[in-house]
Amino acid sequence: MLWSTQLLLLSNVAFGLQIPLQLTAPSNAAKLSTSLISFSIEQDRWTDWAGSTSRNDFFYNTLNNLGQLTGTPPQIRIGANSEDHTNYDPSLQFSQATFPAPSANVPYPEATKIAVGDGYYQSAKFLPPNTHVIWGVNFGSNNLSSAYLEAKSILKAFSSPEILDAGIKLDALEFGNEADLYKNNGLRASTYNISQYATEWLTFATNVSTSLKLSPMSIPKLWAASFAGSSHSTSGFSPQAIFNQGVLSSPVAPLISTISQHRYSGSFCSGSSGLLQDLMTKSTIRGNLTDLQPDIAAVHAKGLDYVLGETNSYSCHGAPGVSNTAGAAIWTLDYLLFASQIGISKVFFHEGIGFKYNLVQPSPLPRSTLDGTALPAPLAPHIQPQYYAAIIAAEAIGRPSGGTVAIELKIDNIRLAGYAFYDGATGKVSKVLLINSQAYFSGSTASRGSIDVSFSFDASGNAPKRMSIKRLSIPHADDIVDLKWGGQTYETADGKVVGELQVEVMDVTKVVSIHDTEVVLLSFS
Ligand SMILES: *[C@@H]1O[C@H](CO)[C@@H](O)[C@H](O)[C@H]1NC(C)=O
Ligand SMILES: *[C@@H]1O[C@H](CO)[C@@H](O)[C@H](O)[C@H]1NC(C)=O
Ligand SMILES: *[C@@H]1O[C@H](CO)[C@@H](O)[C@H](O)[C@H]1NC(C)=O
Ligand SMILES: *[C@@H]1O[C@H](CO)[C@@H](O)[C@H](O)[C@H]1NC(C)=O
Repeated sequence: MLWSTQLLLLSNVAFGLQIPLQLTAPSNAAKLSTSLISFSIEQDRWTDWAGSTSRNDFFYNTLNNLGQLTGTPPQIRIGANSEDHTNYDPSLQFSQATFPAPSANVPYPEATKIAVGDGYYQSAKFLPPNTHVIWGVNFGSNNLSSAYLEAKSILKAFSSPEILDAGIKLDALEFGNEADLYKNNGLRASTYNISQYATEWLTFATNVSTSLKLSPMSIPKLWAASFAGSSHSTSGFSPQAIFNQGVLSSPVAPLISTISQHRYSGSFCSGSSGLLQDLMTKSTIRGNLTDLQPDIAAVHAKGLDYVLGETNSYSCHGAPGVSNTAGAAIWTLDYLLFASQIGISKVFFHEGIGFKYNLVQPSPLPRSTLDGTALPAPLAPHIQPQYYAAIIAAEAIGRPSGGTVAIELKIDNIRLAGYAFYDGATGKVSKVLLINSQAYFSGSTASRGSIDVSFSFDASGNAPKRMSIKRLSIPHADDIVDLKWGGQTYETADGKVVGELQVEVMDVTKVVSIHDTEVVLLSFS
């Protein structure tokens, strides 16, 4: 008895948490889009992102880094709140916007009014080659000629030789942003409901697609829904409700490719360490996403693609000291990969100039993103911690010719999440990603914890022999700089990676320690 107990204890010490790993892709592994991580951009300051008279190299480099890793650059949805406050003005070269005064809670507010000319849409030519774009059209103003003129200028831009030659494509148009909120924000009457919405949306979609001769045989297609929340039922606003209103039996139905929904984990205009740990926590990440499962099932039942067309941590453009920190990178990575497991094909992280939850700040910032106070000197373009999550996901997806499939590993630990990645053609396991979401804060007097793991391989193939280990090193969950991915940094003036790559190589039978607030990527050979 004593002997066997001791052996058990010994084996616990030797192996840590043992994670079963299938060597061959399980049939329910999810196929990962090479643009799984995509971006949603607030359109009022679009030319600050892309460039107007010349390319914004910083933004281009941050997109290109990701595109080089998976073979496909992130998709870009341009629109959001300011989409419903935009009008076309043929006399303008680029755009003209009116902004409310900044405040401590909202240091970089969205424009209340924006007028755009052809050059504004043509700035899409500055995106990396082969980028796919989804552009929002004003539906909030309920002015059909305005929507038509915008859509016409968008289509004109995407048929220009420069954009065609670069393989940059308009994937879809979106009519209106978060129309479920129109009854609260004054864009419609306080009684606005789903049947009125469906009738108006069909009028816009029919007029624009007929006038501009959109064809179901080609792109652009249409995104539908783009609601802020969901009733998950046929009343209220939800995908189920628009289907129930007959949107999919209308003549424009063949043009609808995608249902987009928006999701934030909450709205907090001030942050705390408790809030940061909540954001990073495995169960709250799963709770926020599985909430959408009935909607995803309803969309897939209609044969349509389902995306999170706009998402990020907390509305209010992010909570200060939370959304802009390294802990948010942990959240981003687990959120993104878990989304892939429940049928979400792409996750568009929302970004606006100076928003707290950005992955990328592409232009100089004159005031603090956290409280709006004037800075002694403008902050140069830079990436924020969440960007490392995008890089890590892109690296895990990689570019095997047959694509990549992934499955979440069953790990009986509230702080450790993991995913296994397989070559889509051979079915062979290629990588494992492990995410320790225990927040380790600056000023903590406790020593930093870690979780030890080892793998038990099934018998479905030849076990790999060696693994290389790459770590996302994070000094503290609440830090905003000094992250390193395999010893390298993206915190550079041009957004390109710098530093010597550091990986450990070891036998696959060895124990791997994942520290609190750390990510490790294991690549097998
Ligand atoms: C609707 O948009 C058109 C084109 O921009 C504009 O000429 C017209 O004045 C707008 N109508 C209203 C009621 O604002
Ligand atoms: C929406 O409002 C209109 C006009 O008041 C009404 O006729 C219609 O029945 C309502 N639809 C729903 C789904 O509540
Ligand atoms: C689209 O709407 C405009 C503005 O109301 C109208 O002039 C035009 O005839 C409509 N086109 C089609 C094809 O319905
Ligand atoms: C979503 O996440 C937040 C923490 O970020 C949590 O407070 C909230 O309860 C979660 N919502 C659900 C439905 O799980």
